[in-house]
Amino acid sequence: MTNLIDRVSFNDCFDRILDLFYMETGIVFKTKRDIAKRKIDTFLRKQGFRDCSSFLKALEDSDNLMQKLIDFLTVNETYFFREKHHFEIIYDLLKDKKKPVRILSIPSSSGEEVYSLLIFLLEKGVDPSNFEIVGADINREAVEKAKKGVFSFRSMMNVDESVLDRYFERVDGNVYRIKDIYKRYVSFLNINLFSDRIFTLGKFDFILCRNLFIYFSEEYKQKAMDIFYKLLKDDGVLILGHADTVREFKNFKREFNKGSYIYKKLEREEDVG
Ligand SMILES: C[S@@+](CC[C@H](N)C(=O)[O-])C[C@H]1O[C@@H](n2cnc3c(N)ncnc32)[C@H](O)[C@@H]1O
Repeated sequence: MTNLIDRVSFNDCFDRILDLFYMETGIVFKTKRDIAKRKIDTFLRKQGFRDCSSFLKALEDSDNLMQKLIDFLTVNETYFFREKHHFEIIYDLLKDKKKPVRILSIPSSSGEEVYSLLIFLLEKGVDPSNFEIVGADINREAVEKAKKGVFSFRSMMNVDESVLDRYFERVDGNVYRIKDIYKRYVSFLNINLFSDRIFTLGKFDFILCRNLFIYFSEEYKQKAMDIFYKLLKDDGVLILGHADTVREFKNFKREFNKGSYIYKKLEREEDVG
């Protein structure tokens, strides 16, 4: 029978893992902490560890193990043409641009958002030489899936028959692959928003960040807003998902556009002079 001391140290160990995971990703489990602990327990056993403390030690020493835990714990739910009005906003603002625009979709999960935006812009007649779409996500497996561009019908329920025929080829049953000719207009990277590597991507005209802040603490939302500020060009625009609230956005001007809030970059005092 486990005694109280064992139970306390067991819980401490899982708390420490959740803390490490939070510091790395910004994700808090709030009310779902116990579920997360049970999932981690399943995961560590699958990885061949017999107890929490040996797993914790290995996790502290191994980036690869942390990546595997991230792949296991992050929620990659996404589907084609989710919140389509955001694509309308980008299309409207893009029309006035003189130079080709760069669009970052973070988190892009398995790619549905990026390919939806690509198809939307092509259907509007925008020349692909006028834009570049970069998808980025912390989940390595999701990014590999995005690069392959293979999707099941489950995520394609909002795709019209005519779009399906033009942009996809049927692989098997209800599984479709985006045609190779369209893949050249997009790229995908496995990257953590909070790693310095994010700045190697250069600056963007638009950042689409949907269904990410719903997992973050307010502290990490603020960190993310600061990173977006640096990643945007001077006249850049940030678009958050409808559920992605943020308490403070002092370096941005918030505007209502097509039923959504968009965030336009302001000049920061510390950046002037
Ligand atoms: C629910 S999906 C949202 C996908 C898409 N934007 C949408 O709205 O359909 C959330 C994604 O956030 C990613 N994610 C979580 N923390 C991240 C971080 N720190 N940096 C980059 N991506 C992250 C997860 O891997 C997951 O794929």
